Amino acid sequence: MAFSVLASLVSLLAALQAANGAITRKATCPDGSTVTNEACCFLFPILEDIQANLFEGSQCGAEAHESLRLTFHDAIGFSPALTAEGQFGGGGADGSIITFASTETAYAANAGIDEIVNLQAPFVAKYNISAGDFIQFAGAVGLSNCPGAPQLDFVIGRPAATAAAPDGLVPEPFDNVTSILARFNDAGGFDPQHVVWLLSSHSVAAASFVDPTIPGSPFDSTPGNFDTQFFIETQLTGTLWPGTVGNPGEVESPIAGEIRLQSDFLLARDNRTACEWQSFADDLSRQQTLFKAAMSTLATIGQDTATLTDCSDVIPVPPAAEGTPHFPAGLTNADVDQACTTAAFPTLSTDPGPATSVAPVPTP
Ligand code: HEM
Ligand SMILES: *[C@@H]1O[C@H](CO)[C@@H](O)[C@H](O)[C@H]1NC(C)=O
Ligand SMILES: *[C@@H]1O[C@H](CO)[C@@H](O)[C@H](O)[C@H]1NC(C)=O
Ligand SMILES: *[C@@H]1O[C@H](CO)[C@@H](O)[C@H](O)[C@H]1NC(C)=O
Repeated sequence: MAFSVLASLVSLLAALQAANGAITRKATCPDGSTVTNEACCFLFPILEDIQANLFEGSQCGAEAHESLRLTFHDAIGFSPALTAEGQFGGGGADGSIITFASTETAYAANAGIDEIVNLQAPFVAKYNISAGDFIQFAGAVGLSNCPGAPQLDFVIGRPAATAAAPDGLVPEPFDNVTSILARFNDAGGFDPQHVVWLLSSHSVAAASFVDPTIPGSPFDSTPGNFDTQFFIETQLTGTLWPGTVGNPGEVESPIAGEIRLQSDFLLARDNRTACEWQSFADDLSRQQTLFKAAMSTLATIGQDTATLTDCSDVIPVPPAAEGTPHFPAGLTNADVDQACTTAAFPTLSTDPGPATSVAPVPTP
């Protein structure tokens, strides 16, 4: 099952190479960069512009995090199950969340997404790039600013969206595991472990609308790094509320200032996903490889991959990982809610000093 997404990634890239073999020319672009396909050169000025003017000088900050979230909220708007019932199932990773922003940003599950839609829309208007391509480009470039991240694949050629995705397709943090897994399977053929792979994204994440009294609350203690801390910290016993009590989709977290989604809490403890979740706790290289594979599938949901062109070599190589897997100060293996029944949680060291508390990610 893990194999299927990897296999589809390999065959996608092979198909892209075959389809474009005749017209591919290794090229030196006007800015001096070398790419495998000349058709990708137009992306370099866009890259330079968004690194300076969207990501505040190549930062892994709020805009990079929000751009990664947007790749998901655009792509997951696709449902073969709805189509089978004779309804419009959405176009997947088609840019509809920007093209039909007034409809889609009003959906409850898209709370707060209007901020990054409003920041990205001027770039889509300025350049000759489809909204669907731009959203996935910005997500991959933003993530490349995060130390420890994989260099994501990126393809171009998504046509313009024809309609807004219907409401109800974006998972909510108060959804149960069965409905979350079913939604991912419908949208992209994802199996339970692929959902875990995709949630590596929450290692560079914060929430502003789950508890609006504490905007920018991170999901782990290192939101500026793509690392394993999210998988470690979601497995710790919840002991406190970082802000107010009683927000739908929120459960207690283990660290002051950190917010925990009920969906992440449940996925970390459910027997369909717990062992995969735990497998990432001390294995960043596994997390990088499998997140990259699943993101490649996510980024082309609803698209005809045979018509797309591989421009992965335009995505910058991310900075090397910083730090190693550890428990936040004050917490140890004794604080782990052991959920996987076939393997023990890895033994990790504890950060020195007084109990860790996490600062909010500054919001734009
Ligand atoms: C079970 C499925 C998922 C649920 C229920 C969920 C829910 C959420 C929620 C509630 C937030 C906080 C929004 C806010 O209050 O500001 C969030 C943030 C985020 N999500 Fe997810 N998510 C899921 C899966 C994913 C996936 C597959 C991705 C992959 C790209 C992703 C990427 C992100 C990122 C990067 C953020 C941080 C945004 C920021 O810092 O502004 N999520 N998610
Ligand atoms: C815009 O890009 C498309 C390919 O995506 C190309 O066919 C078209 O000529 C371009 N238009 C302009 C004005 O550059
Ligand atoms: C999960 O949520 C769905 C949709 O709200 C609901 O129909 C189902 O009964 C729930 N399942 C469980 C086990 O709570
Ligand atoms: C997983 O747990 C549920 C109850 O929560 C149980 O019914 C099911 O048999 C378990 N499955 C496996 C594979 O252990």
